[in-house]
Amino acid sequence: MSDLPKEAFEILKQVNAKAYAPYSGFKVSAVVKVKGDDTLYSGNNVENAVNGASVCAERSAISHMVSQTGAKPLEWVAVLGGKSGEKVAPCGVCRQVIFEFCEDIDVPVYMFADDGSFEKTTIGDLLPMAYKGKDFLKNY
Ligand code: THU
Repeated sequence: MSDLPKEAFEILKQVNAKAYAPYSGFKVSAVVKVKGDDTLYSGNNVENAVNGASVCAERSAISHMVSQTGAKPLEWVAVLGGKSGEKVAPCGVCRQVIFEFCEDIDVPVYMFADDGSFEKTTIGDLLPMAYKGKDFLKNY
């Protein structure tokens, strides 16, 4: 499973359909895989009439992971955007939140389109010169 992010695609599609995006009409889903655990944790975007209260799919998936297994280092992240043929890159805030749970900059981020095709990048490429925080903040 861990080397086969395409296996996450079915989950991404199911969760994407359940996203709450009445304002943008842009549904996004995300799946995260943590090291040493085959469970896949999913999330979707949940929008709100108050802009700042909306939550992105990636942060939703990470919250799901933390709620179910506690904070663990990520093995990979997969994202599916809701527009036909479009591959969504995580927003800046989500890049920082993903990085919080990455042990190194090589953690893959797979960006899926709705036909199942995907592009692979890494958190290091998405967030160069990342702010790592103080050492005491890094504690799984
Ligand atoms: N969105 C995500 O959920 N993840 C991203 O990486 C990019 C954007 C959501 C936020 C908002 O609900 C909608 O997509 C349009 O920006």
